[in-house]
Order: sequence, then structure tokens, then C-alpha cells
Amino acid sequence: MNANGETLIEVGHLVRRFGDRAVLDDISFNVHRGETLVIMGGSGCGKSTLLRHMIGSMKPTSGTVKLFGKEITAMKEREIERVRLRFGMLFQSGALLASLTVGENIALPLLQHTDKSGDEIEEIVKQKLQMVGLTGFEDLKPGEISGGMKKRVGLARALALDPELLFSDEPTSGLDPIMTAVVDQLTLNLTKGSHMTAVVVSHDMTSAFRIATRMIMLGHGSIVAQGTPDEIRNSPNPEVQQFIHGQPDGPIPLNVSQEEHKDHQHVRPRPFLGARFRFHHKHP
Ligand SMILES: Nc1ncnc2c1ncn2[C@@H]1O[C@H](COP(=O)(O)OP(=O)(O)OP(=O)(O)O)[C@@H](O)[C@H]1O
Ligand SMILES: [Mg+2]
Repeated sequence: MNANGETLIEVGHLVRRFGDRAVLDDISFNVHRGETLVIMGGSGCGKSTLLRHMIGSMKPTSGTVKLFGKEITAMKEREIERVRLRFGMLFQSGALLASLTVGENIALPLLQHTDKSGDEIEEIVKQKLQMVGLTGFEDLKPGEISGGMKKRVGLARALALDPELLFSDEPTSGLDPIMTAVVDQLTLNLTKGSHMTAVVVSHDMTSAFRIATRMIMLGHGSIVAQGTPDEIRNSPNPEVQQFIHGQPDGPIPLNVSQEEHKDHQHVRPRPFLGARFRFHHKHP
């Protein structure tokens, strides 16, 4: 833990609305060098949206995000590109380019941002693949590997430039318990001695408690609770207890209300899809 360390990220009064719904409603917190901050919270509560604002790929409705002391929310794309050299991002979907091989996907940031030789890049790709337990997978295409493997390739790519800051969105979803432990150990090794700082979105409580130095739980657009893993574990807040113990009954509702989703056309079921599905699955 490094609560007194240099502040790498400052999120100040961040608000993001989609339609008239505030998915993030006045969120403020800091991240210090060497910390592993785990962001948790129910599906759809805004975790990925928060990460997108932290890496400058989404602009807030109001409020600010400062990365390395500079306001990323006010930067033009070219400036953001420069800041991107200092952090890696593992997207929830993996976000690999389907037409490139696994090796080419990992090599991409090195080709774009460094003048390293082909041999050097090949060596780094090998090393990063080994870190995520995928030695020898260079030549396969994303379509030829499993979902969990794609996640790990995404992680290898996020680490290609040896970033001082890593954002990962659900790095262990789709991984078996052993591979989850391998990825967690990798995060622990990289953050040891404040070498790297990590912001990790996770639903996986075993993994979250293994890696976190600090935790934030989001809900209803706000920070429901934050603290050290011990403080979260012992939190008197019933929402926190329900979430960390995965209990079906409690203050967190099962469904996001229709009211909350009234301005989200894309989440409404489209009847014609049902009809098409039945058509395709009709036996001759
Ligand atoms: N570009 C967008 N346009 C409209 N609504 C959006 C957009 N992006 C996200 N949302 C809405 O914001 C809410 C939060 O989405 P987000 O993806 O941040 O959730 P999450 O906490 O990451 O969920 P999960 O755990 O399922 O990944 C959802 O209701 C989603 O529909
Ligand atoms: Mg998400």
C-alpha cells in the first residue's frame, strides 16, 4: 500500500449521463503510485464507463480526470496518444484485431510507438506471451483461441510497452481458478516495489481480495464504499456484504428497472430477432 505516494490519477466530481440517466454521478477518488485499486460493483453499474473516462476514450458530462498530473478530459487526441505510452489497457472484450495473429496483436504497440528492431520485438512478444502462460501461441489468430486465452493475449498486449500504469477490465473473467491465480500473481509481481500501479475492474471476489491494496464499490452512480480489503471485508454496509458474499437476497435489486433503462433503445429486446432465431433452428 502506498497511500502517501505520488498521485497518478485524480478523478474529481466525474459525472457521465447517457440520456437523462447519470451512470456516474459525482465520483471522486485518487490513485497513488504502487497501489492496486480494485473497482467492483454490479453488472451495468458503470465500471467500464469509469475506466473509459480514466483512459480518455470517453469525455465526461462534467468533472475531471487527471492522469500523471494532467487533465486527460481536456486533451486533444494527439496529446492523449502521448499519455497512452505510459499506460496499458486490457479491455473487457479483449479487443484483439481479428485479422492479425496473436503475436502481431502484441507487437502492434511496439511497432506504433517504438523504433525497436523486428528481432527485439519478436523477443518481447515471446516474453509477454510467456508471462501470461501462452508460450508458442504467436501464430494463431484470435478466432482460433478460447475466450480466456484472448483475455490473456489482451493482457500481454497491454503490458507490451512495460507501462507504469495498467487498467484492466475483468482480467480474470473466463479464466479457470489456476489461470486466475497465475494472472493475479503476475499483477502482484508487476506492482511489487511500486514498480507498476494497477486499476482493476473485477467481479471475482477471490481474485479481488488477493490483489487489491484498496477497493471501491460502485452502485447507483456513486461510490457505495471504499477502503482497504480488510475494511471492505468488515464493512457494515449490507450492499457490500451482499456483493462480496454473492447473496441473491439483499438491498441490491436483481433487475435494473425499466425506468432506469427507458432511454436505452439498444437494450430493449427486438422481436424480429426471436423470429429469425426460430427460423434458423427449425429442423428441415
Ligand atoms: N455508449 C453508451 N451509450 C449509452 N449507454 C451506455 C453507453 N455505454 C454504457 N452505457 C450504459 O451505462 C451503464 C453502465 O455500463 P458499463 O458498461 O459501464 O457497466 P459495467 O459496470 O462495466 O457492467 P458489466 O459488469 O456488465 O461489464 C449501462 O446501463 C449501459 O447500458
Ligand atoms: Mg464492464
